[in-house]
Amino acid sequence: MNVLVTGGAGFIGSHTLVELLENGHDVVVLDNLSNSSEKSLEKVKEIVSDYLNNPENKESTDNNKSLDERIKFYKGDIRDEVILNKIFDENKIDACIHFAGLKAVGESVAKPWLYYNNNIGGTLNLIKVLDERNCKNIIFSSSATVYGVPESVPIKEDCPKGSPTNPYGWTKSMLEQIFMDMYTSDNEWNIILLRYFNPIGAHESGKIGEDPNGIPNNLMPYITQVAVGKLEKLGVFGNDYNTHDGTGVRDYIHVVDLAIGHVKALKKIEEKAGLNIYNLGTGTGYSVLDIVNNFEAANDIKIPYEIKERRPGDIDESYCDPSKAKEELGWVATRDIRKMCEDSWRWQKNNPKGFKD
Ligand code: NAD
Ligand code: UD1
Repeated sequence: MNVLVTGGAGFIGSHTLVELLENGHDVVVLDNLSNSSEKSLEKVKEIVSDYLNNPENKESTDNNKSLDERIKFYKGDIRDEVILNKIFDENKIDACIHFAGLKAVGESVAKPWLYYNNNIGGTLNLIKVLDERNCKNIIFSSSATVYGVPESVPIKEDCPKGSPTNPYGWTKSMLEQIFMDMYTSDNEWNIILLRYFNPIGAHESGKIGEDPNGIPNNLMPYITQVAVGKLEKLGVFGNDYNTHDGTGVRDYIHVVDLAIGHVKALKKIEEKAGLNIYNLGTGTGYSVLDIVNNFEAANDIKIPYEIKERRPGDIDESYCDPSKAKEELGWVATRDIRKMCEDSWRWQKNNPKGFKD
């Protein structure tokens, strides 16, 4: 397939490009680089080129085009109809994987209009052009945040959606509803809503990974920046949660497993399966201290930490039942917590300044 990948230069997008290209798909990337660097696309090419030059992998794709032909980049914004139409004029697009969006929870509280405009306004614009161009196949990056405080764990897809605690979370919840209404209005759409749990890790080459601006909000990038000496110590947000050691429990998933989930979802799109929702997680919950301990053991580095106040909006535990994705997509996460810790660290160690090196 020729796949339009919005936000393809970002963390999850770049890892997904690798898996798509290694599985014979071609990609057209649209990204405004507001939270990423074009360098990630160069690194994606290096990784895929190494993969294709390995005789063991020769059989995996019968795509004979050069890599430069198979990955096209447009710098632009999903809110801009002109560039979207230009992409459709210049390419035959079979499906869209839609990652583009802003994702910083705290910033979304401070700048709600920006988040609604970028994430919802941008997606509405994208849907309009996809509809006009009769390309009604889309995979959307949703989030476990749509469950709010879950009624019970492990969370299944039919667990009622809850109230997100911030505008970022609301954009995901509202966009899910918009996609459902689009499908109700026109059954020709094939829509897959993927609810990611907590993506961490990096490609094992150490060439691409998460590159947050400023001080990281999320746990693993904070830990790796402590490990590399950029930050002094980790603050653990609360140790009085209702969990095995009192610290918050989450379902961490290796970003490469997540990326592979998109390739599997694309297969489902080819089957014209209508509207489907899948949790993408491992099904196992780890606490903040479990992650610190695993990181220390995997990489032989001490992570100093101190217990701090709870962070507003955080919940005790969140982990999924991933069996629907296994049964219907044939997808299972295979990379364990040690591998997630090793790969996160390799990326950070090799690129202390991320893509700014
Ligand atoms: P990211 O910031 O690394 O990637 C998003 C990309 O979208 C960036 O490259 C950014 O430049 C681009 N972008 C943003 N607004 C744009 C616009 N208007 N037009 C064009 N490009 C735009 O984030 P990520 O972690 O790779 O997340 C990808 C998607 O997955 C996002 O929609 C995010 O909300 C969702 N998600 C992420 C997580 C997570 O923990 N990383 C969890 C759940 C859901
Ligand atoms: C957060 C967002 C969620 C978003 C996701 C993206 C909130 C409330 N939720 O999820 O909407 O989709 O990121 O990955 O912000 N922790 C610390 N110290 C830190 C950082 C985190 O103790 O410096 C703890 C948190 O309290 C939590 C766990 O680590 O228990 C994971 O936190 P984080 O990586 O921010 O992810 P979520 O809060 O699950």
